[in-house]
Amino acid sequence: MTQDEKKRQVAEAALSYIKPGMTIGVGTGSTVSYFVECLARVKHLIDGAVASSEATAERLRRLKIPLVDLNSVHEVAVYIDSSDEATRHLHLIKGGGGALTREKIVAAASRQFVCIIDDSKLVNVLGRFPLPVEVIPMARSYVAREIVKLGGQPILRNGVTTDNGNLILDVRNLSILEPVKLEVTLNNIAGVVANGIFARRPADLLLVGSDDGVRILT
Ligand code: 5RP
Repeated sequence: MTQDEKKRQVAEAALSYIKPGMTIGVGTGSTVSYFVECLARVKHLIDGAVASSEATAERLRRLKIPLVDLNSVHEVAVYIDSSDEATRHLHLIKGGGGALTREKIVAAASRQFVCIIDDSKLVNVLGRFPLPVEVIPMARSYVAREIVKLGGQPILRNGVTTDNGNLILDVRNLSILEPVKLEVTLNNIAGVVANGIFARRPADLLLVGSDDGVRILT
């Protein structure tokens, strides 16, 4: 099975977590794009969908899936999103698509976070994938220097401005043995908006697409 077939398979499986009357959160990326196609089949059942990026909002609009603003809902029942890496402890690296800050907000506001990945993204220790860090433009150099002190090698993601008008540093060389601790440390650097470690609010369920079907990790 190709990686794309696994993404499709796991996106389809996520549909079983959507119940009538729910307000749901929708992530960003190619795996989630497959999920959005599936969601279109049941769009009449849900109350609305909160998008984690402008790209996802556009996709939802195109398929006439009712879009709602996070500020107008009390709670999001379930958030469906993918990740760039995931461990068996359900800690994630996200932000390959640059939407990490809004993704973190929607994940935080959701009762349940169902993360859908293909099995190539399952790792023992986070950090092979360069860690995305969203920074306020004027703080770019300062934040980069602070990250170097932590042992990371930050590289500016060229030509990318986030939906929030900020920049992304992709940080290599971090072996993330204590994800919660590093997530907090990075957040405490002045000028960092968010970082791609999702450990303080991990996924609640990991659906993993593989040749043997969809595995569920809790
Ligand atoms: C976007 C993300 C995505 O979930 C992550 O990059 C995975 O993307 P894909 O489904 O295209 O492999 O965090 O910011």
